[in-house]
Amino acid sequence: MNFAIIGCGFIAKKHALAIENIPTAKLIAVCDRVPEMMDFYAETYDAKTYIDSSAMLKDPNIDVVCICTPSGLHAPIAEQVAAANKHIVLEKPIAMTLEETDRIIDAAKYHNVKLTIVHPNRFRTAVQETKKILDQNLLGKISHANCIVNWNRGQEYYDQAPWRGTKTHDGGVLMNQAIHNLDLLLWFMGNPTEIFSMDATRLRDIEAEDVSTGVIRFENGALANVQAATTVYTKNYEESITIFGEKGTLKIGGPNALYFEHLEVQGLEEQEKKAIIERVKEDPWGTPGHQRIIEEMIIALENGIEPAVTGEDGKKALKLVLAFYESAESEKLIRI
Ligand SMILES: NC(=O)c1ccc[n+]([C@@H]2O[C@H](COP(=O)([O-])OP(=O)(O)OC[C@H]3O[C@@H](n4cnc5c(N)ncnc54)[C@H](O)[C@@H]3O)[C@@H](O)[C@H]2O)c1
Repeated sequence: MNFAIIGCGFIAKKHALAIENIPTAKLIAVCDRVPEMMDFYAETYDAKTYIDSSAMLKDPNIDVVCICTPSGLHAPIAEQVAAANKHIVLEKPIAMTLEETDRIIDAAKYHNVKLTIVHPNRFRTAVQETKKILDQNLLGKISHANCIVNWNRGQEYYDQAPWRGTKTHDGGVLMNQAIHNLDLLLWFMGNPTEIFSMDATRLRDIEAEDVSTGVIRFENGALANVQAATTVYTKNYEESITIFGEKGTLKIGGPNALYFEHLEVQGLEEQEKKAIIERVKEDPWGTPGHQRIIEEMIIALENGIEPAVTGEDGKKALKLVLAFYESAESEKLIRI
């Protein structure tokens, strides 16, 4: 399977490494508006380089394109890739608006290409174990959940590129960082029905929010607290998800939501519980999430099935972020 990348900045390297680690995949072309951003890929992978994506997309040997441009450019580029009949691995957030999102999903359907959104945290070992526990209904009726991202992104992070921290091309902590955790919350808890939130730009000189807090009610009646910030002094402090059910409580925590900080489940034998905690400790990241996303795309192509994280999944996470923004701006409860 031949891959190309559009946008050769920070996250593109993870895509390239993922492709390198998959025996049936090969990176054959890259595209960036800034020529020197492509030097690494030409030297390391012998990839062809293009300043213009439409020229690159004429190459009939390219099967799948990873889109790693700033978020505000995802929609027009994804439409262009779909129209060239290439399958799409699209970085999160799927897009900045629901209108753009629908254009992407419709283009993929119309041109009969597959679309996956990069929410790699789903493949962390503790997250996979949690999903298994929830799917077996071992926590029983869920009462509520906490979802926390208290991280540090200094001003220098936002000053790296003009698109960072803007409302149209990046968004703030919810759209950029916490969307991964909101995706997990939706995966674990089901569909949200009501959202109320407040946000602020407290410590960073950016247009979008650097701190946000809110509450969600889910279709099943359970509630969740969400708190997200990039203002934490001086480093990442906590990324966690805690779920409280009638038959169990679990918390995935630490600065990067990698380990079980708490696992108390009625239906789990002590030995089983220890084995789960050990599995997570031994290999907290599992196979890198970007690699798993791309592997799942290849499996989907080979078997004519949907990839693990679909465009609709990306849309759900975006819809939740946008509901948070709408609530904060209007000072009203939002019903989905
Ligand atoms: N899934 C994750 O864990 C994760 C992590 C970081 C970033 N991201 C996402 O990846 C995307 C890129 O983020 P980044 O940190 O790599 O940004 P970046 O600024 O480091 O890289 C973006 C690159 O895109 C290039 N570019 C801009 N417009 C282009 C165009 N029209 N055609 C070709 N190239 C173009 C830029 O020159 C730059 O090299 C964003 O959507 C971001 O939200 C995802």
